[in-house]
Amino acid sequence: MTGRFIVVDGVDGAGKSTQVERLAAALRARGHAVHVTGEPSGWPIGQLIRRYLRGELRDGVPGWSSMALLFAADRMQHVEHEILPHLEAGEVVLCDRYDPSSIAYQSAIGPDGADRTELMRWIALLNGHARRPDLVLLLDLDPQLAAARRTQRGGEAELYETLELQRRIRACYAELPAVRPNDRLVRVDASRSIDEVHAQMLAEALALLDVSR
Ligand SMILES: Nc1ncnc2c1ncn2[C@@H]1O[C@H](COP(=O)(O)OP(=O)(O)OP(=O)(O)O)[C@@H](O)[C@H]1O
Ligand SMILES: [Mg+2]
Repeated sequence: MTGRFIVVDGVDGAGKSTQVERLAAALRARGHAVHVTGEPSGWPIGQLIRRYLRGELRDGVPGWSSMALLFAADRMQHVEHEILPHLEAGEVVLCDRYDPSSIAYQSAIGPDGADRTELMRWIALLNGHARRPDLVLLLDLDPQLAAARRTQRGGEAELYETLELQRRIRACYAELPAVRPNDRLVRVDASRSIDEVHAQMLAEALALLDVSR
């Protein structure tokens, strides 16, 4: 039987990496084989994107549309060479960010005055052949709280991490069900404790895996 593809997404600092790690451990403890990955991927296009996000590469910094195309290309390479092979091996693939991030971020940084929904639809279309997740857990958190968590965590700020932009990104995530009506999207209130957020995410994942047995 083919495996199950679970995506964890949401604004910067919402707790994605923390929860992906917790969820992977809990599923492994229940006997599931789990492959953890994330985007931008570790493949060549993903590495290029990371260099732009960190501000290491300043030559030809991509705007919203070329970034959307780069992310879509990285995603297809990631799907083809990593996600599908693990799914075909029957594993659970847990992915830290996927096309919800592209749809929310690249449309939020799109031109001033643009019709955001139209941009979101274009990016969704670009990713129309990327393997659909079986479950998308969307960590929703007030950007101010997310910024406080990032400050506490430390490290360098990346491109896109201003408060106003993060607010627009959050609004785009909220519109995602209209743009991806066929995806199983679950909003998770990420303002709660790590344990409470984990409990909801694990219950959602187990509900998916139990019916797939
Ligand atoms: N529910 C929570 N309550 C309080 N602090 C949390 C919670 N979840 C995560 N944190 C802390 O917030 C910080 C950011 O979490 P994490 O790195 O998991 O977020 P992220 O969504 O992966 O961020 P990024 O988008 O930058 O990768 C970390 O220091 C983490 O320990
Ligand atoms: Mg993270």
